[in-house]
Amino acid sequence: MTAIPNHPAPATPADPARLAMPLGEAMFTQRAIRRFRPDPVPLADLRLCLEAAVRAPNGGNRQIGRFLVLTDRVVIREFGALYREAWWAKRLDERGWTRPEDIPPEEKTSRAAAGLADEMQDAPCIVLALAEPPGWANSVIPAAQNLMLAARALGIGSVPTTLHPKVMDRVYALLGIPKDVTFHFCIPLGYPRGSFGPNRRRPTAETTYLNRWNAPPPWA
Ligand SMILES: Cc1cc2nc3c(=O)[nH]c(=O)nc-3n(C[C@H](O)[C@H](O)[C@H](O)COP(=O)(O)O)c2cc1C
Repeated sequence: MTAIPNHPAPATPADPARLAMPLGEAMFTQRAIRRFRPDPVPLADLRLCLEAAVRAPNGGNRQIGRFLVLTDRVVIREFGALYREAWWAKRLDERGWTRPEDIPPEEKTSRAAAGLADEMQDAPCIVLALAEPPGWANSVIPAAQNLMLAARALGIGSVPTTLHPKVMDRVYALLGIPKDVTFHFCIPLGYPRGSFGPNRRRPTAETTYLNRWNAPPPWA
């Protein structure tokens, strides 16, 4: 196995028994972690998250998902600058915002996401979730969620994020990604500053129907 820069090669195979956190606890306490301690994530733990990721369902078991793991500080710093530019480009497109003062105080998720745009360059690790042709997103998204649940079980925080067309050529050039590979998610990983869940979601009685659109489930 090729060693990832700054990490020794792992001595032991990935051990799924290390993901022993009850599944319900992992799912119900997984929330967006956007602030990370600087401590590096051990390579063995990154590998275990990736071993969990690739076990996800995918179309025709063609396994088109590809995962580009960034741990090199210089690369992460350069990528972080592009991520920040992308985040603001998207906010300009969607909201007309160009600076932090433009974000309304009540838009807490956007304010936290703006903080991540600043801090991405300091993330201990970033995983890009990509796909070989035909590039289907729905063959990669289950893997990304497996990766983030495995991370949660190991006490590692994560959040799925996207980029913007404005920076894609430079991201691909920086990381040597072939043009026919499709980008789906950028997932920073690290030990949280702050805590995991519980997360807040709409009641399932509002988002679930039984047998027919708009027919409420029995627990509504
Ligand atoms: C398709 C998608 C795109 C997202 N993009 C971003 C993003 O660009 N920046 C960010 O900080 N979070 C991003 N998120 C994370 C969401 O904001 C987060 O999952 C949501 O607000 C719920 O957060 P919670 O689990 O902490 O309650 C994205 C999530 C998804 C699924």
